[in-house]
Amino acid sequence: MGIADAEETDPCIAAESRLHRGINPKTKLALIILLVALIVFILIAGVIALIVTFAKSSKTISECTDLRRDGETRNGIYSVAIDGVEPFNVYCDMQTDNGGWTVIQRRTNGELLFWNKKWHDYKQGFGTDLTNEFWLGLDKIHKLSAVDDDGKLRTTLRIDLWGDRCRDKYCSGHLNEHWWGEWDFSVADESERYRLKISVAKAGNLTEHTIYDVFYYMNNDQPFSTVEVDNAKAGFNCAEFRRFGGWWHKDCSHVALNGEYSENQGGARGFFWFYRHSSPTYNINPARSEMKIRRNN
Ligand SMILES: *[C@@H]1O[C@H](CO)[C@@H](O)[C@H](O)[C@H]1NC(C)=O
Repeated sequence: MGIADAEETDPCIAAESRLHRGINPKTKLALIILLVALIVFILIAGVIALIVTFAKSSKTISECTDLRRDGETRNGIYSVAIDGVEPFNVYCDMQTDNGGWTVIQRRTNGELLFWNKKWHDYKQGFGTDLTNEFWLGLDKIHKLSAVDDDGKLRTTLRIDLWGDRCRDKYCSGHLNEHWWGEWDFSVADESERYRLKISVAKAGNLTEHTIYDVFYYMNNDQPFSTVEVDNAKAGFNCAEFRRFGGWWHKDCSHVALNGEYSENQGGARGFFWFYRHSSPTYNINPARSEMKIRRNN
């Protein structure tokens, strides 16, 4: 009995020799080439994935409005890039009325003092937590609210007020009400003392939509004033008076959303809005406020 016979008769040896015969040198070479190709492919794919991830995370948008248009629907902090300015963080409201809003002011509880902040603070912004109380800063607000070459306002300002802490007979009596309004809006640069340009209110129930809109009537075309820089036309310091704080005061205002947030507030002092939309009129000392802007198109 020779070996050949043994191979044929012993099932184990037979299987083994079939296996050896199966992998000829050509197949081996093909397999190695395939393996190398696969490894190279995985490496290249990995590098591409890394580059894409990096590009995404470091990609700055031009505004919340653009980011919303790109499909982002989560509220939160995003980096914004505008010509001629270092990228900076803003809070984007991506949900209110289809989103795309950059929040420029928020007050929630009065822990952060607004009214006594100075020109430099209003210019630079204050409040470090963009998810809570802050003022974004007039330089940034100016950049975000640029005017078209023909002078047309191309940004909308939306103001929301929630709750009323006002406790006297000229108050709303609506402790948990919500008011909102929208205006075309822009803020000039510092050389023009951050002069405000707004339209008459164009939407909402915070004020009437005529030239008697309290915000338009008192504050349109006025420069900004603070406790130590008085640009108002009152003959006394409006930011100090009744602790109205930094605003586009005239003589002074029916609106002071940076005013003092004090306990037991009574009407037209500190943080307040004079409501004149439908009868009766009343003062609101909001519990919370938000000011946010969005490019019109
Ligand atoms: C203003 O409008 C909001 C939402 O549209 C509504 O919830 C609120 O009750 C209104 N407030 C007043 C004072 O009418």
